[in-house]
Amino acid sequence: MHILVLGAAGMVGRKLSERLLRDGRLGKTDITAMTLQDVVAPAQPAKTGFPVNTVTCDFAVPGAAEKLVADRPDVIFHLAAIVSGEAELDFDKGYRINLDGTRMLLDAIRLVGGGYKPRIVFTSSIAVFGAPFPEAISDEFFHTPLLSYGTQKAIDELLLADYSRRGFMDGIGIRLPTICIRPGLPNKAASGFFSNILREPLAGKEAVLPVSEDVRHWHATPR
Ligand SMILES: NC(=O)c1ccc[n+]([C@@H]2O[C@H](COP(=O)([O-])OP(=O)(O)OC[C@H]3O[C@@H](n4cnc5c(N)ncnc54)[C@H](O)[C@@H]3O)[C@@H](O)[C@H]2O)c1
Repeated sequence: MHILVLGAAGMVGRKLSERLLRDGRLGKTDITAMTLQDVVAPAQPAKTGFPVNTVTCDFAVPGAAEKLVADRPDVIFHLAAIVSGEAELDFDKGYRINLDGTRMLLDAIRLVGGGYKPRIVFTSSIAVFGAPFPEAISDEFFHTPLLSYGTQKAIDELLLADYSRRGFMDGIGIRLPTICIRPGLPNKAASGFFSNILREPLAGKEAVLPVSEDVRHWHATPR
């Protein structure tokens, strides 16, 4: 099985790649090759039992996605995105990468032809939802994103569902909650302060809580 990871140099991308490299398998299937892609050069892993190719490129420029899927990876993890705060600050960049890039990727897969139908795992976000929230969010809860980022993810989810329905791919979208604690310096995610309020005090630093103390939020933490 050949696995392609887009956004492999990011926080989730690095965790996922390390785990796949360590296990050497996905589910019950052995991995025979991996391609790690990001606009920031992904680290070239040492000593792997199968070939690992690293690709540094912007997947959202015309022609890039076609090259990435040309050798027909069986499973594609699409994690490449710009985060909520940046997509809000730079409208054009947000729509270009988070929406147009994703559409170009899905079309590149569709146009490979010859019965190619990869599994594609797309990281969506709870940002597709907008407050006020019910006690539990069911499948019937409306998508009312409050930011451009959530709108882009919601549209991507619809595209993924429709391209899967049409038989071009076997897609699944996962709505990640805020992943804490983000290592390193704060990033441009609007929800970044959820990491800051845990990370900074642990380092003996002061942190600012920019929302009221009764705000409820969803977190997940990688091991
Ligand atoms: N971390 C969270 O709390 C969270 C929550 C909900 C959803 N998500 C989603 O999960 C995915 C991974 O999140 P993360 O926390 O690892 O983010 P991250 O910012 O750490 O990683 C995203 C990666 O995508 C890369 N990228 C951005 N634009 C690109 C482009 N045009 N071409 C190639 N690579 C590009 C970045 O360089 C970065 O390495 C994203 O799709 C994000 O929207 C994350």
